[in-house]
Amino acid sequence: MLPKIHLLFHPAAAFALATATMPTARAQAPLPDSPAIERQANAMVARLSLEEKVDLLGGTDFMYVRAEPAVGLPKLRLSDGPMGVRTWGPSTAYAAGIALAAAWDPTLAERTGAAIGEDARARGVAILLGPGVNIYRSPLNGRNFEYFGEDPLLAARTAVGYIEGVQSRGVIATVKHFVANNSEYARKKASSDIDERTLREIYLPAFEAAVREAHVGAVMASYNRVNGVYPANSQWLGADLLKGEWGFDGIYMSDWHAAHDGVEAANAGLDLDMPRGESMNRETLLPAIKAGTVLVAAIDDKVRRIFRTALRFGFLDRDQTDLAIPPYDQQDRPVALEGARASIVLLKNQDAVLPLDPERVHTLAVIGPDAWPAVAEAGGSGNVVAFDPTSILKAVSDFVGRGGRVLYSPGLPAPADVYYNSVFDPAGPNGAIRVEAFANADFSGPPTSVKYEERANQAKNNVGDAKSVRFTAHFTPPKRGDYLFLAQAKGSDTYVLYVDGREVIHQYRRESQAPAFASVGLEGGKTVEVRLDFVPGDEGDMARFGVVAADAVVPANVKKIAAMADAALVCVGFNSDLEGGGDNFSGGEGESYDRTFSLPFGQDVLIKAVAAANPKTVVTVTSGGGFDSRAWLPDVPALIENWYLGQEGARALTEILFGLRSPEGKLPITMENSWADNPVHDHYYPEGGMTSADPHVKYAEGVFVGYRYYTTSGCRPLFPFGFGLSYTTFAFSKLSVPATGDSDQGVTVTVEVSNTGPRAGAEVVQLYVGDPSARVPRPVKELKAFEKIRLEPGMSHRVKFHLGRRAFAYFDSTAHRWRVDPGRFVLYVGDSSEATPLTAEVRLDR
Ligand code: BGC
Repeated sequence: MLPKIHLLFHPAAAFALATATMPTARAQAPLPDSPAIERQANAMVARLSLEEKVDLLGGTDFMYVRAEPAVGLPKLRLSDGPMGVRTWGPSTAYAAGIALAAAWDPTLAERTGAAIGEDARARGVAILLGPGVNIYRSPLNGRNFEYFGEDPLLAARTAVGYIEGVQSRGVIATVKHFVANNSEYARKKASSDIDERTLREIYLPAFEAAVREAHVGAVMASYNRVNGVYPANSQWLGADLLKGEWGFDGIYMSDWHAAHDGVEAANAGLDLDMPRGESMNRETLLPAIKAGTVLVAAIDDKVRRIFRTALRFGFLDRDQTDLAIPPYDQQDRPVALEGARASIVLLKNQDAVLPLDPERVHTLAVIGPDAWPAVAEAGGSGNVVAFDPTSILKAVSDFVGRGGRVLYSPGLPAPADVYYNSVFDPAGPNGAIRVEAFANADFSGPPTSVKYEERANQAKNNVGDAKSVRFTAHFTPPKRGDYLFLAQAKGSDTYVLYVDGREVIHQYRRESQAPAFASVGLEGGKTVEVRLDFVPGDEGDMARFGVVAADAVVPANVKKIAAMADAALVCVGFNSDLEGGGDNFSGGEGESYDRTFSLPFGQDVLIKAVAAANPKTVVTVTSGGGFDSRAWLPDVPALIENWYLGQEGARALTEILFGLRSPEGKLPITMENSWADNPVHDHYYPEGGMTSADPHVKYAEGVFVGYRYYTTSGCRPLFPFGFGLSYTTFAFSKLSVPATGDSDQGVTVTVEVSNTGPRAGAEVVQLYVGDPSARVPRPVKELKAFEKIRLEPGMSHRVKFHLGRRAFAYFDSTAHRWRVDPGRFVLYVGDSSEATPLTAEVRLDR
């Protein structure tokens, strides 16, 4: 039997992290710009030759701004983020951006930013490449986990907090990727085609707030094109909007290798070509300057920006490395834990199956691929190597201690085991799979070699210089049912898997990839052909595939331990290879591919099998956003969205599972039932198809992204934006809104929130505005203010919001300005975009 929680849980030990505070002595906020700084920056510019100035416009050694000893500028070290300091060895890993947004707490974002700023100082990092603020447009985008969700206001508030935190420690934050980088496939080619109103209302506000409110020191131009033009080369985005209208006075840098034409980039306002001045260099710029197509004044402005920012942040006056800050910093751990605690979202809790009662749950089954090892982060440049990330298995087991039992299984075979154990019908002399190699990329003509293999499980297919390889096998299903086909290649390889002549998986060419699977219904005893047409890419020569019966994929012992336990915890979802990262062969460094809406291989079947064996099944999903739960959600009583919670995440989850704390995260995204419900579904991919040479992605949904679409169309989401359950209950009352107002003065709104349940908890009061009399179509509701309130049982709090002009305005694309149409506005207050029990109206005269 498990002892009572308070015996197991020693606040003085590992979990006591929350009581520690950040020392303020470490703060080193940047100086505001001043005439003195401008004078000094100008004097520095004046001391350099044109060549020396041009050299400064390209980075060096992959992660540095060049030094200029003649003016005392040291080499400035950069690091990836945003969920920790990535580039320079292990570091504290915090909850991912999407999780930080799920906390709905800009002050937490600031504490997190400050802790990351300290980690940066410990590693001599002057410029942190975060935060990422691209809007969650579709659940498929492979880098959603880095960003702050689907709503521009929530993203802006979270970004401002994060940036102010980082910069308060004397480190430049870099807001990225500017702009409309909302998918990963074809990220370096695709054009996001968006009208100005949609850009202004949805995709730009978080960048605008980062510049205008948080005074971010750097902005990174994105890989994708916007309306046909690369942002690094866009006069409108760089020179006119960012630097002109918003008054950005810091450093505008390119994403890595994303500046395309040096002269164009120089004139468009790009200051720093990363990582090494491939486009802006002496070769391209000196002749242009001589010819007068690039002005010396433009070069001076760029160099001045680098100097000004370096002066403001104090880089000329101190060593950026602060050796007194411990690299494994106990000051950070409470912040990382707090971030995880605040962001876990409880989505379903039928019959109050959670929290688990240690008096009743003596044996707990912990099952699933995400239970161990720890899945603290997703992949790619956002992946931080944490010193000591705790897995869910370890955190739960340590909590339970010797007072109870935790039974464990990964639940599913590793893909390598599926390839190895796949049994195809006997065929050629030495094996079941015929492997034909071709000297061309389209499998035409006779093969240059034919051989037979027993399995397609090799890390190398050894087909020499073949330009395409066809694998053909035959499979006779022992009985009627669903069969899971799994296939995997590497990098830019492409392939198509056919079962019985039908295409079931199509891997298009992209920069990198993850394993793919398809479930196919087959007749018993009827042999089908399984064919993989494989075209090696740059990495080449690695393809694997296999098949397993859906009802055999979960080992019998898994169902047994689930049945033996008083409750089962199924830990599924993605990981650093499957989301944001690289492929399994390289260990996750690739970026540039999207993830699937369906959960990875076999996980639906696993959840169903465990739920059938144990009625108290709790599912936790690790993901950067929505996923398909239709196959099993009705069968499981509890579901938790776990995001990527960083190194302390599993401890936070354990606290919530066992009721030491109430969950308080709220979705920063809408979770739809099916991907087809999403307003972006029909135009997520380019108009000319995935192989288009000039891909254009039409943002045809306009401003109706996420809940803006769902609340307006009446299509019901599975879990709405803003939604998240607690172990206690809250009520809203006494909404007070003036009957009339004036948008220039703004409108002040008050509302009371009460904890009506049995225990302490936190609620997010969400205020949405609707403009039914607008001259343009507007969403029924748009989030315009929010506040997170912690309350003891029985307590109430009055929240006051002030709505400024922007809260009522839309962007008028004809007049190119924000506009308020006088008339009736509806204010909605509630705890999600769908549940807004209080409404009131205000009439604005102007
Ligand atoms: C990513 C950026 C990152 C940069 C440097 C790029 O591939 O898109 O987010 O900061 O690499 O690692």
